[in-house]
Amino acid sequence: MTQERRTRRAYVETYGCQMNISDGELMEGILADRGYEIVDTPESADVVLVNTCAIREHAEQRVLGRVAQLGALKKERPGMLLGVTGCMAQRMGESLLEGPGQVDLVMGPDGYRGLAQALDGLRGPVPPAGERSPVKRNSRQLAVLDLNLGENYQGLEQRRSDGASAWVPIQRGCDHRCTFCIVPYVRGGEKNRSASEVVDEVRGLAERGVSEVTLLGQTVNSYVWEEWAFPKLLREVSRVDGIRRVRFTSPHPNDVTPELVEVMATEPTVCEQLHLPAQSGNNRTLKRMLRRYTVESFMEKVELVRGAVPDIALSTDIIVAFPGETHDEYLDTLDLMRTVRFDDAFTYKYSPREGTPATRMPADQFVDPEVAQSRLAELIEVRREVQSDVNRSEVGRVEEVLVEKEARRDGQMLGRTRRNKVVAFEGEHELIGRYMHVSLDRTTGATFVGTRVESPEPELVR
Ligand code: 5AD
Repeated sequence: MTQERRTRRAYVETYGCQMNISDGELMEGILADRGYEIVDTPESADVVLVNTCAIREHAEQRVLGRVAQLGALKKERPGMLLGVTGCMAQRMGESLLEGPGQVDLVMGPDGYRGLAQALDGLRGPVPPAGERSPVKRNSRQLAVLDLNLGENYQGLEQRRSDGASAWVPIQRGCDHRCTFCIVPYVRGGEKNRSASEVVDEVRGLAERGVSEVTLLGQTVNSYVWEEWAFPKLLREVSRVDGIRRVRFTSPHPNDVTPELVEVMATEPTVCEQLHLPAQSGNNRTLKRMLRRYTVESFMEKVELVRGAVPDIALSTDIIVAFPGETHDEYLDTLDLMRTVRFDDAFTYKYSPREGTPATRMPADQFVDPEVAQSRLAELIEVRREVQSDVNRSEVGRVEEVLVEKEARRDGQMLGRTRRNKVVAFEGEHELIGRYMHVSLDRTTGATFVGTRVESPEPELVR
């Protein structure tokens, strides 16, 4: 009797930034295309991939713990393959094969095109129960770590869930060399996708019911493809039929140009929201970070954007305790937070990343960990104050939300406004993916509690 071969199952667990989430979808797409069923628990999978982040040490520590845990699962499930992919895989390379977890595959961000073949290659015949595999472990492990100057994953598509929102990567890698940052070393230089492919992809998404897209790139607004610079691509995407909301992340302040701001101000689907990483509010620190702007020129960008889109919500990234940062220089960063009045900020303590220029600064320049911790704590406090102040001033508004998911509290749904603010309100599961208006009744500081003021708009008939 011939037995039908069981469909292989794959599980991808993603850590880190939006680009990584998008890469996770890419891996799922590649595997689904090869006939894998994508499952949502490692216990039910034949292939388990941990898609990792290398941006800070803390992120890596978390993942290493998880890999060891999955290694224990692997012991109970002979035949399961365990892979570590993404930025930490690229950074740590073959050492991951030797560490705990019995990792079979290590694959950096440029290797995914060959993912299915790599897994095929690793999968030898399953040894009969009770018999030890004659194949040495080492010959059964694989590390794919080449950076590829041309790999932009043209022609491959992500496996996306059915929701109303989608990530659309338009660029990979980064040509900047900010001295704290590991990204250029693990993702290589900037590689852009063809504009026509991006626009076609967005059209396809819209036809499938996606109405919100977020264009992704490490410095997304430096995108260029032939005569297409970012503002032109943004305009084209924003005009695709069926698309109601367009966002993009993360831009570099230097490439926030009048042309870009013009598109943001004139295309109704481009959301009134911008994430603008400042990193520091002090010129000497910015210079040593090699950010290539000053506080003054950063403020000019803020004014340019606010001049054209007065109600825009601005968020930022900040690093405290960069090597050599003095107390006064750190205070400049607090000033910047208060001056700009960011709607939101992601705040970090400097984390040395091996191989990056900042780690080569003189040892006595490194900020004492306790000092770093107290700077971060105070910065978080300032962020809270500013954020809840800004949000309190918005109570009473009526805003359009796209309903995203159920809130933790029973009977409550979470929606997101165009300005990227989260609102909880009473509603049913069926509202997910629909647009409706809610009044912002009060704020918890970071988010809002609201009430729907009208029924959801009927779903578009396509
Ligand atoms: N230490 C701390 N924060 C970092 N970031 C990037 N590299 C480091 C580092 N070595 C932060 C920056 C960046 C965000 C994604 O992570 O603020 O914008």
